[in-house]
Amino acid sequence: MSLKQMINIALPKGRLGEKAYRVFEAAGYECPSIREENRKLIFENEEKGIRYFWVKPSDVVIYVERGAADIGIAGKDIILEYSPDIYELADLGMGKCRMAVACKRDFCDNRDRTLRVATKFPNIAKKYYNSQSREIDIIKLNGSIELAPILGLSDVIVDIVETGKTLYENNLEPRETIVDISARLVANKVSYKFKNAEITAMCEKISEQIKNS
Ligand code: PRP
Repeated sequence: MSLKQMINIALPKGRLGEKAYRVFEAAGYECPSIREENRKLIFENEEKGIRYFWVKPSDVVIYVERGAADIGIAGKDIILEYSPDIYELADLGMGKCRMAVACKRDFCDNRDRTLRVATKFPNIAKKYYNSQSREIDIIKLNGSIELAPILGLSDVIVDIVETGKTLYENNLEPRETIVDISARLVANKVSYKFKNAEITAMCEKISEQIKNS
């Protein structure tokens, strides 16, 4: 008799992770203890052979790349920014937004000048402006990026736009879309090989669940 392999799943803490968990649950990978109100970070359903843990959204790819998690849910923005050595198994079609360039409504670009770009995503920004042969000065921030052009710290920002409300309410406007973003099911490469039956079955059930929802 072969021992059932435990699958470790890294979920991004927050709204997206909770939504993703509900899909796993509906696909037959429930773990009732996860719904208990407490500060625990790890939840296990031994019978189902699954273990969930909550991690900071931008850390999911680190856990998966290094094999601490077999699979995880990560935004395409994080995958593009960090280029982790992992497999992208499925587009979950949730957490949809876009990576865009935004600026003050009256900003007029002068291509002869170095563009000051504030962002949490320096690699995505560099790649984008490189493809346009545009010289830029990256200002790496960790949040509230919208403040940068308002306070004159940068000319533009490269950031996530979901509803556009944050830009609008701060008198900024989106100018160019760099790439569309959504949540992806990702897997560790070694796990994908050695726990292939379990991961493939899980991926199929989850894709089916997404298709029917
Ligand atoms: C993201 C992004 C924008 C906002 C966009 O911020 O950086 O600020 O959401 O959403 P909207 O288009 O629906 O207004 P997040 O909540 O991740 O916080 P932070 O970047 O300021 O840390």
